[in-house]
Amino acid sequence: MNIKRSGGLKMSEKVRIGKSDVVATKVGLGTNKVGGHNLFKNLDDQDGYAVVRTALDSGITLLDTAYMYGLGRSEEIIGEVIKDYDRSKVIIATKASQDPARDHDNNNTPAFLKQSVEDALKRLQTDYIDIFYIHFPDKGTPKDKAVAALADLKKEGKIKAIGVSNFTLDQIKEANKNGDVDIVEDNYSLVHRAAEKELLPYLRENEISFVPYFPLASGLLTGKYSALDADKFKQFNSEQFRKIINNISRIKEIAAKYDATAAQIVLAWYIANPDVSVVIPGARKLEQVASNAQAMNLTLTKDEYAEIDTAFKGF
Ligand SMILES: NC(=O)c1ccc[n+]([C@@H]2O[C@H](COP(=O)([O-])OP(=O)(O)OC[C@H]3O[C@@H](n4cnc5c(N)ncnc54)[C@H](OP(=O)(O)O)[C@@H]3O)[C@@H](O)[C@H]2O)c1
Repeated sequence: MNIKRSGGLKMSEKVRIGKSDVVATKVGLGTNKVGGHNLFKNLDDQDGYAVVRTALDSGITLLDTAYMYGLGRSEEIIGEVIKDYDRSKVIIATKASQDPARDHDNNNTPAFLKQSVEDALKRLQTDYIDIFYIHFPDKGTPKDKAVAALADLKKEGKIKAIGVSNFTLDQIKEANKNGDVDIVEDNYSLVHRAAEKELLPYLRENEISFVPYFPLASGLLTGKYSALDADKFKQFNSEQFRKIINNISRIKEIAAKYDATAAQIVLAWYIANPDVSVVIPGARKLEQVASNAQAMNLTLTKDEYAEIDTAFKGF
């Protein structure tokens, strides 16, 4: 018999995704380490099941997955887990574009995207996907044609919201010619703020939600690294890395005030950021997701938000 479970936390503020009917909690779960054996070493599927269960039990509603995370394995794990939960309370976001028949080159043709949705529905063992993203743009398909295929699927009820990921601003504008794009996912964090210049203002003006990926900078912003770990984060020069580590020390002081962790304070910063719709930290272990979910119970003061914002300006 299936046991229906409900979230354990008091729900924090929820957000609507673009112009769709999809509504999610502000903290979601990134699942590239759930079944993503092709992307990361030493992953354990049992940890993956536990991570997804813990997320849902902790009040997180949105699960961010993709065909590319384990070539379907992440979606399969999620599909198994959500059978024990009330489907209407789980928001599944998945993505596709990598075509196995083209050596995983990106394919945004209407036929491929429609087939990808059918395949994902089977792996997820469900009859609709809440948010479906085109994972990466391809070279040949006009972006509005690709999105029109998703608009057909939305009319059929197979997907509820339309997303694009890793598109340039010009590609997003082309994709959104008919106003059909609900959500964009792109690289953005306190240490990677290029999106603030042009992308985020466009999304705001066009009622398109934004989900940043790498919000914890792959763990750097959790506070578990020190100045000695610079060689693990070669994208930063030594001065930048020193600044990040100093800023994290200050975040730890703020965290102490709330009896919280640095990661929770960083996540609270995204929750308070009006341009961020849902923040989707990834997790390898259930302890991480349980801890990250607690950020939904934290509210930074305006001064703390501004101090963190200012400390990381220029990244
Ligand atoms: N659309 C796209 O093209 C795209 C690209 C990349 C990612 N994504 C999505 O975005 C999600 C987030 O990105 P990400 O997971 O790569 O990076 P991230 O959220 O910046 O970092 C997550 C990693 O930080 C560590 N971590 C998380 N919580 C922690 C905690 N409380 N304490 C200590 N360490 C903690 C874990 O790694 P360790 O335990 O290994 O340190 C975890 O896997 C992904 O899961 C995926 O769903 C999308």
